[in-house]
Amino acid sequence: MDTTTRANRDAWEAASEKHVREYSELLAQAASGTSLTTLERDLLHDVLRTAPDVVHWQSGHGTDDIGLLQAGARSVTGVDYSEVAAGAAQRRATELGADCRYVVAALPGAPLADGCADLVYTGKGALIWMPDLQAWAADIVRLLRPSGHLFIYEEHPAAPLWTWDPDEPGIRPDRSYFAPSHVNDSFPAGGAVQWQRTLAEIVTAVTSAGLRLLHLAEHPEPFWRMGGVHAAAWNGRLPNTFTLLARRLNG
Ligand SMILES: C[S@@+](CC[C@H](N)C(=O)[O-])C[C@H]1O[C@@H](n2cnc3c(N)ncnc32)[C@H](O)[C@@H]1O
Repeated sequence: MDTTTRANRDAWEAASEKHVREYSELLAQAASGTSLTTLERDLLHDVLRTAPDVVHWQSGHGTDDIGLLQAGARSVTGVDYSEVAAGAAQRRATELGADCRYVVAALPGAPLADGCADLVYTGKGALIWMPDLQAWAADIVRLLRPSGHLFIYEEHPAAPLWTWDPDEPGIRPDRSYFAPSHVNDSFPAGGAVQWQRTLAEIVTAVTSAGLRLLHLAEHPEPFWRMGGVHAAAWNGRLPNTFTLLARRLNG
């Protein structure tokens, strides 16, 4: 593991303790299945009808996983390098009697068998921690069965540029859409280095790896709002998230 990835993991281990303190609230949220949004449910409707085995890439506290099972998934395997997050996710799933298992591992390089998944589900602040998009996409394709799907619901690459001013949206003077990275100052903070790429780079990585693009859309709603912040940038005029669905080509 390189120095930046190790430091980022340390930041996530520390930050994940917050979610352990919120265990009861997250248990209730997971049980309700509501963290899997209506947008995600609609886009995944046809895939989830086929009872897929799901790999949740960078599963964090796994609150979406119960929702995926409730919406039709046969099983969910979460992979995350945070022992704290994966441990809490496993405890929650066991308590809810859900068919989820969690593996602690750095990604890419998932210690899972080739072709073990019908659906790789990822996002909500995941992609920004992957330094090498080609390696990311190749490992996802390796995990997918023929005709398996990749689904991403992620922060829009332009969103780190928006200020959180309450009256008018603005562009941060210290950020560039084309910069390779910046230091995260929201969550997990702690000096974590967040990788940047353009939407074009993400789509190119997906299609170059052997996936066919089925859906790509940009959305004004953020997937997450920092507590107490009411940014004008979230009021519908700017892109804050995107969704992507792709299918493995060979098969
Ligand atoms: C913002 S959380 C999103 C988690 C999940 N999608 C969710 O909505 O709860 C990002 C997660 O990525 C994990 N992560 C970051 N870099 C990683 C890496 N290289 N390998 C494995 N997990 C990683 C962190 O530990 C963290 O749990």
